[in-house]
Amino acid sequence: PAPGTPVPFAPTAPLTAPTPNSAGRVAFPDGFLWGTATAAFQVEGAGAEGGRQDSIWDTFCRVPGAVHAGDDGMVACDHYHRYREDVALMKRLDLGSYRFSTSWARIMPDGKTVNREGLDFYSRLVDELLGADLLPWLTLYHWDLPQALEELGGWPSRDTAYRFAEYAVAMHEALGDRVGVWTTLNEPWCSAFLGYTSGAHAPGKKSPELGLAAAHHLMLGHGLATSALRELDPAATLGITLNFTVSDPVDPTDPADVDVARRDDGMFNRIFLDPILRGAYPADILDDVAHLGFAEHVREGDLQIISTPIDVLGVNYYNGGAVSARPQHPGGADPDGTAGPDGAREQADDAPVWEVRSPNPVPDGIHHHSRGLPTTDMGWEVQPEGLTRLLLRLQEDYTGPRGIQLFVTENGAAYPDVVQADGSVDDQDRLAFVDAHLRAVKDAIDGGADVRGYFAWSLLDNFEWALGYSKRFGLVHTDYETQERTVKASGRWYATVAAANAVPA
Ligand code: NOJ
Repeated sequence: PAPGTPVPFAPTAPLTAPTPNSAGRVAFPDGFLWGTATAAFQVEGAGAEGGRQDSIWDTFCRVPGAVHAGDDGMVACDHYHRYREDVALMKRLDLGSYRFSTSWARIMPDGKTVNREGLDFYSRLVDELLGADLLPWLTLYHWDLPQALEELGGWPSRDTAYRFAEYAVAMHEALGDRVGVWTTLNEPWCSAFLGYTSGAHAPGKKSPELGLAAAHHLMLGHGLATSALRELDPAATLGITLNFTVSDPVDPTDPADVDVARRDDGMFNRIFLDPILRGAYPADILDDVAHLGFAEHVREGDLQIISTPIDVLGVNYYNGGAVSARPQHPGGADPDGTAGPDGAREQADDAPVWEVRSPNPVPDGIHHHSRGLPTTDMGWEVQPEGLTRLLLRLQEDYTGPRGIQLFVTENGAAYPDVVQADGSVDDQDRLAFVDAHLRAVKDAIDGGADVRGYFAWSLLDNFEWALGYSKRFGLVHTDYETQERTVKASGRWYATVAAANAVPA
């Protein structure tokens, strides 16, 4: 289908039979890229070193009650000082790539002037990676907007998109000779709707209108940065990473449930996929948000910029959701049935209930049901077959016709790890989670999806945003007292997968 042709929402059927890859050894295509991912604010620390100034997350961490236990990013995993040790660790784990982000607040502390010391840190990191034969996979924006730019209006302001493109160009000037893969944004859904609509994330604003304005300006920033980088470096691999849900109607024969799934899919997935890959916002979503003034932000020529061709689409997948027009437990303790997936994912334990339930700017009547599947420490359902369906849908409807490669840029799980007396962590739950999702990726490849690599979230336990250090996603355990790193059972297992290019039987 030509760009601009709308793709109607059609729920994909959940796979019921066990898939062919649910057991036995599963080999991946030659050259499949194995990596781990982190983000600057979650691991670096050194919050006030090297000329860095506040990002919106530093400010947010100081708001009483905003972040679990009052945690902040000032030290985190001290990756800023320990990057050599961490790169050596990745090398020992036989990995091929490191997906990291650069901190805009380190590079442009006042939002406009380049700070040489900030660039130098990433230059050292990239050299270390190249020396260890690890492909640097650089993300320009993983949620840490310089506070100075928030004060000028943040993402709801159109100017921020232009500042972002300038930052992208400055990074490319410094690292373009050594970095070949550039991701503009990580999970713009979170930046827009957790940051400016539910207020669960920095900068903590609570407005559907601001969230939607932010969403469009994030898209514009992506497009401006992509076209600037393309002009500077035609051979670069350019892309964006989106977070996806797989919205299943609780009753696929009930038109009301199907419509709720359409809206959920629209505000989560298609509002970003369609402008980037089809050059138009989905018509049904434009209708749904018409009363919130969204269209007023979209100027002539914007969609052409936003749809500048990309080479790779990064897919972050943790879980899907079963949605309905009706509450799961009418009148019960959870009358809306919405606690759990989607926006509830990254909320402080004590967040007011309405915040948990309003990540969608048009939340009315969307009820999330539990399917009784096992859940992780985040309360998210473990649903690997959703990843197979997602990758196949992206291939068919979006990336395949444009020759765009798919990479799983994040997948992983938080579990309450137990550190044994000898310091080891036998996290069989996390190992099983990654095993099941890798088999799901292979099912998608077998079904025709052009998936070229997988990055586990995360290399290390780190700062889990509003949940602080209370949730551990690492393949490697972080002792926050001593900064000692200990490879968990899942990490040792993942190293064997990367070395063999196969999931063992
Ligand atoms: C997605 C985000 O990109 C990452 O920063 C976060 O830690 C993980 N999801 C887990 O919630």
